[in-house]
Amino acid sequence: MKTELITILSRREIEKMRQAGRLAAKLLQHLEPLVKPGVSTLQLNDEAERWTQAHGAKSAPLGYKGFPKSICTSVNEVICHGIPHGKQILKEGDIINIDVTPIIDGYHGDTSKTFFVGTPSPKTRKLVEVTEKCLYLGIAEVKPGARIGDIGAAIQEYAEAQGFSVVRDFVGHGISNIFHTAPDIPHYGVRDKGKRLRAGMVFTIEPMINEGTYEVEMLNDGWTAVTRDRQLSAQFEHTLAVTEDGVEILTLPED
Ligand code: MF3
Ligand code: CO
Ligand code: CO
Repeated sequence: MKTELITILSRREIEKMRQAGRLAAKLLQHLEPLVKPGVSTLQLNDEAERWTQAHGAKSAPLGYKGFPKSICTSVNEVICHGIPHGKQILKEGDIINIDVTPIIDGYHGDTSKTFFVGTPSPKTRKLVEVTEKCLYLGIAEVKPGARIGDIGAAIQEYAEAQGFSVVRDFVGHGISNIFHTAPDIPHYGVRDKGKRLRAGMVFTIEPMINEGTYEVEMLNDGWTAVTRDRQLSAQFEHTLAVTEDGVEILTLPED
């Protein structure tokens, strides 16, 4: 049983998280126009690494627990932690989640979006739109005094009502000068359960929503998590601070 304490960040630390979060959002914005049929996930990775260094930042994923690249690129049935590869070429109709985490001045900004490669089928569009709405429904629960279970409950109720499933094996997380710390933020759960939120807590919400089963299978590379039934999975992520009166999204490109 983990007994990690939940850190309350100072105003000064939250300002550093804001800088890191803004850089992360701008990096995703920079990569978006590169997402086209014919591009490899390694090209996206290499441009992300170049841009990150040019902005005086470091890529947190690179070397993290042995992860070999600078960003995660999760295509179609990949739930999360896809490894960029030169032989993986995007094609019309694919979806790709790009997950970036630059470190600047010691603090992490963690955000991801799922992009369409060309034009999606109606079913694929619905999955991605529902997943983004799940993120915002989760964020809408965040305020001092609310409970961690409220976030997961809001996400799970909506995702399942739309006919989709919520991944259990990966969760949101506390984040600061540490990439992954307490608390865990499940994207499923029960209202009025779990720890209470307090101003100064900073964590991610990053729902992974599947077309079919929520069950995960790990590939032999030790990182790539895929849906057991190989149906599609989508994900969106923001880094958030609990404020005195609600929530601030830290991973937005502007104030
Ligand atoms: N950015 C991912 C997250 O949202 C973590 C990636 S860890 C890595 O938590 F090692 F795969 F990069
Ligand atoms: Co992330
Ligand atoms: Co994260």
